Amino acid sequence: MCGITGYTGSGKALPFLLQGMKCLEYRGYDSAGITLVGEALTTWKAKGRITELERMIDPALCPEHTGIGHTRWATHGVPSQLNAHPHNNMDDTISIIHNGIIENYMELKRELLGKGYVFASETDSEVVVHLIDDCWKNCGQDMLKALQKAVHRLQGSFALCVVTTYDPTRIYCLKKESPLVLGHSAEGSYCASDPTALLAGTREILAMEDGQIAVLSKNRIDLYDFDGQEVPAVFVHYPYDAESAQKGGYDSFMQKEIHEQPHAIRETLRGRFDADNRLIMEEIDSLGLNWSHLHRVYFIACGTAYHASIYGKTLLQRAAHISCIAETASEFRYEDPIVDEHTLCIFISQSGETADTLAAVRLAKERHAATVALTNVLGSSISRMCDATVYTCAGPEIAVASTKAYTTQLVMLVCLDLKIAEKLKAVFPEEEKLIRSLKSLPETVEKTLELEETMKEYAQLLIHQHDAYFIGRQLDYPTALEGALKLKEISYVHADAYYAGELKHGPIALIEPETVVVAIATQKDVAAKTFSNMQETLARGANVIFITDQDTDAQDFARVIRIPACMEELAPVPAAVLLQELAYFTAEGKGCDIDKPRNLAKSVTVE
Ligand code: F6R
Repeated sequence: MCGITGYTGSGKALPFLLQGMKCLEYRGYDSAGITLVGEALTTWKAKGRITELERMIDPALCPEHTGIGHTRWATHGVPSQLNAHPHNNMDDTISIIHNGIIENYMELKRELLGKGYVFASETDSEVVVHLIDDCWKNCGQDMLKALQKAVHRLQGSFALCVVTTYDPTRIYCLKKESPLVLGHSAEGSYCASDPTALLAGTREILAMEDGQIAVLSKNRIDLYDFDGQEVPAVFVHYPYDAESAQKGGYDSFMQKEIHEQPHAIRETLRGRFDADNRLIMEEIDSLGLNWSHLHRVYFIACGTAYHASIYGKTLLQRAAHISCIAETASEFRYEDPIVDEHTLCIFISQSGETADTLAAVRLAKERHAATVALTNVLGSSISRMCDATVYTCAGPEIAVASTKAYTTQLVMLVCLDLKIAEKLKAVFPEEEKLIRSLKSLPETVEKTLELEETMKEYAQLLIHQHDAYFIGRQLDYPTALEGALKLKEISYVHADAYYAGELKHGPIALIEPETVVVAIATQKDVAAKTFSNMQETLARGANVIFITDQDTDAQDFARVIRIPACMEELAPVPAAVLLQELAYFTAEGKGCDIDKPRNLAKSVTVE
């Protein structure tokens, strides 16, 4: 995720900016840049690490007291020096850094190109600096007014910092749906995307609210709403040290990332539906595939992403009645699969660098299949190899165990499946209702997170157990697999997942008093069947955790947890969140190193 830092005060800006950017390195980034303001702007940008940037700069020649710094994690435009922030206007008098996504940047870009503005990068962010320049010229050269005017043209999410040679002792900050915090001390004023980057300067911190503009100067910070009304600036003492600040006050990155899911899902859906709720997916429109000749769709991935594949294939096959196959990449590459020019292969990979998945892409391409990547990392190998790429916008995942990447993959698979069904002239059952439910999924997940304490209580059952079993049918099956994998990975409790109907064909022999069984029943046609299978384990003394959105007679169970209402096609998202919590609290109770489980790596770049 991109990182922002800024300083104006009596000290030199450069050292503060560099140390702030280094504090933000943990968020992941692919390029970095700084603008210092004096009579002129001085901007440096580098692809790669902050050390690359430092090589370009001679600190002895940098006396400036005002500046902004940025670490970029690419979303629009590949990682490169040109796409790195800051972005400057054409006469190098205004410089901006931006976190977030400008949804209407294409429309704004067309308008600004028409006015003669020249763009140097492929980013959505660059439109902002030219728009501010245009507004500045039309607002009597008053920067605050220009920003108020510009901000009303921007759609999307943004944390923005603006500096200008017209006013070299100020930083202007604007916020909507992307975090931005301000700090103040006797030495000056500070801004950052994350309190971590401020702690070297101050602990007196104000978290900006959406719809606010702040004007930072050496001795004060003034706060306004987007219409120019002044609002009180109230600072609070920030209690955390740098390490817990990076984790946003949570005990681990995994817990933070579990809680980031409403935001990650919102970002992933951003810009995907027009005002009439029609799906926008130009990546697939321009795939150049003869859809009427399509015979089969493969969903290929590893680990958690493979569980997402099973979800994606089940959903599509149901709606489009085309042959859909979910396969692990490590098997696909060796099994001589039926893949030809009538095959669409969808590759799902959070990192976009998993060796087995990349090998599977090569095989599909050799056999002339159409290839689509679904990844979280812009410019990753998989996106360069496939014919088209759709991105999740989960932001970097730091914990080894995948959480927000998984749920955003499910969300993007719903979109992708809707698009493929449309191309195949098929319609999802209750499609309009599904889209409405999808759009309100961030709120559904917010409500799900309120059930955290219950999952913590249920996790106590697992702490002293060696084994656990997860069961579910249809779309609940990938959820069962994912719940079992999360538990294994971070708490080292052995866990297996089965189709609920398979239990009595063998695994039930393992159920004895106090064995934990997690039954997931969110799919109405089969919920009663899973309910019966769960009863069979209860009869053998199992401790059952029953996750459902169905009306059931709860009195028979000690533990039933009801997920917030949503369409059953989407229930695997909140259900997965609950199972992440279950694994998390089990691992916490066992004192495990949650973010770095033994033997595991975040990106598996070897076979
Ligand atoms: C589990 C986990 C892994 C990854 C797998 C594929 O929590 O993170 O199972 O899902 O290694 O990684 P990507 O999605 O990067 O291809």
